[in-house]
Amino acid sequence: MRVETKNLIIRNFELSDEKDLCEYMLQRVNVEFESYPNFTPQKAKEEVEYRSKSDEFFAVVLRAKHKVIGNIYLGKRDFNARELGYVLNQDYQNKGYGSEACRAMIEFAFGEGVHRIYAECAPQNVASWKVMEKVGLKREAHFRKNVSFHNDDRGNPIYWDTYVYAALNPNEKADESID
Ligand SMILES: CC(C)(COP(=O)(O)OP(=O)(O)OC[C@H]1O[C@@H](n2cnc3c(N)ncnc32)[C@H](O)[C@@H]1OP(=O)(O)O)[C@@H](O)C(=O)NCCC(=O)NCCS
Repeated sequence: MRVETKNLIIRNFELSDEKDLCEYMLQRVNVEFESYPNFTPQKAKEEVEYRSKSDEFFAVVLRAKHKVIGNIYLGKRDFNARELGYVLNQDYQNKGYGSEACRAMIEFAFGEGVHRIYAECAPQNVASWKVMEKVGLKREAHFRKNVSFHNDDRGNPIYWDTYVYAALNPNEKADESID
């Protein structure tokens, strides 16, 4: 798989991406959103090996620097749907690359005949849902306190809300769904 945009190349991971992958994954150890708390440099080799064989994880390469600056995830789900996820190296955020990569991958997936693409995030993760809106996904749900990734000091779960955004393949015939 290889998709090219003005600034980016989105392609399968390669073993030589280990250093770049490690750089942005380490930035995510202690963060609020899309964290990988157990990631260590020792795990980078295993992770890049796994991703290089995956058809769900894709490397985002910045053409100008020949550098992997993040990844797009398109996880296969029931009923020909894909769950979209994205992470960028923090040094390359807020430059439009997240939207550029997502837009291209959504177009690619719909071109391949995927029926529905959806993504989920916390309402507090403004950059994430702004990207979803910029690339044409619509907010379909706001689930209240439905997920928990951490406990408080007493060991009780801290619950977060979730937004669900989605787009349907525009190449499919319109149906009776209610907008
Ligand atoms: C989510 C992520 C991939 C977005 O990539 P990006 O390249 O920074 O996104 P873009 O530059 O294309 O767009 C970001 C938008 O959010 C806005 N934004 C960013 N942070 C914001 C904030 N704290 N408050 C309000 N708007 C914010 C930007 O202004 C921009 O909108 P605009 O173009 O209308 O000005 C990136 O922030 C990231 O890797 N975050 C950490 C991982 C993560 O949270 N992933 C999603 C998990 S659900």
